[in-house]
Amino acid sequence: MVITMTNDSDTSSNTARTWFITGSSQGLGRALAITALDRGDRVAATARRTESVADLVDRYPGQAIALELDVRDESAAHRAVEHTLAAFGRIDVVANIAGYGLFGAVEEATDAQARAIFDTNVFGPLNVLRATLPVLRGQRSGHVLQGSSLYGQSAHPGVGLLAAGKYALEGLSDALAAEIAPLGVKVTLIEPGYMETGFLSHLVFAAPTPDYDPTVRAVHSSLGELPPEAFIDPARVAAAVVTAVDAKHPPLRLALGRAAEDGIRRTLAARVRELDGWTDVARSVDVAPAPQGA
Ligand SMILES: NC(=O)c1ccc[n+]([C@@H]2O[C@H](COP(=O)([O-])OP(=O)(O)OC[C@H]3O[C@@H](n4cnc5c(N)ncnc54)[C@H](OP(=O)(O)O)[C@@H]3O)[C@@H](O)[C@H]2O)c1
Repeated sequence: MVITMTNDSDTSSNTARTWFITGSSQGLGRALAITALDRGDRVAATARRTESVADLVDRYPGQAIALELDVRDESAAHRAVEHTLAAFGRIDVVANIAGYGLFGAVEEATDAQARAIFDTNVFGPLNVLRATLPVLRGQRSGHVLQGSSLYGQSAHPGVGLLAAGKYALEGLSDALAAEIAPLGVKVTLIEPGYMETGFLSHLVFAAPTPDYDPTVRAVHSSLGELPPEAFIDPARVAAAVVTAVDAKHPPLRLALGRAAEDGIRRTLAARVRELDGWTDVARSVDVAPAPQGA
């Protein structure tokens, strides 16, 4: 299937790139690896178990390498980068895709569950950034793709800890983008809505507290009733991501799918309305300007 898209890019680059992708075993990471390989790029397909990406090496000889990487292990990230450089000599796109979800009220999540999701979804990408950015800075070129979500800019009952990690990734990426733009490196936060991947079946659940049944459990039931068409195809998401990578001026944030776009728009509009409604109080704390002519 050929997916045609319009965008505000001035040009498309057909130069083969080298990708370093986390979570390549399944879901979006795998879709991104296949999309890149199909267009002739090279891919360091990293995964917790290399067996899960071995088929890519067989299907795309010379283009794909399979590397072991649990993103919680910083030294493994450095080793994977060394292997990538030995095989391909450079890294053009770093895709921080590995991640999982935790469902439950903020209060219901245990300390261990909260720390575990940050270990993978926040400290994981940080480990990969510390391992890859020296290469991108050295080249004075590259693109970092951060696997965020609709929940990187909006949240509802039940997704507090998932959103907390994605918001953290978004905050650090805002700063990172400004820090590395002068060094020739771009950053894009990928914000899909619900995708047709194993994500929901891999969700970790917090132990329920009945007081949260009308909010958290109600949301969980409504998610379970979503029609199949509410889940977007990761291959289409991957194609859209490549469009952004090809763009001369890639976006810092890329919402993908109607659910993500609508949800983020609603959240941003509510924020601006609230800011407007509280302007007088906000400004009341400023030091009053000296009267004119005083
Ligand atoms: N699906 C959605 O609705 C959705 C929506 C918005 C954003 N996202 C984001 O998209 C990203 C990919 O999710 P997905 O939908 O593709 O889910 P998925 O099918 O469950 O895939 C998750 C991937 O992350 C890997 N992973 C998990 N923990 C890891 C770790 N510690 N080290 C290395 N790899 C690890 C998994 O590897 P294993 O095979 O070893 O488990 C798997 O490859 C996540 O960051 C998620 O938050 C998903």
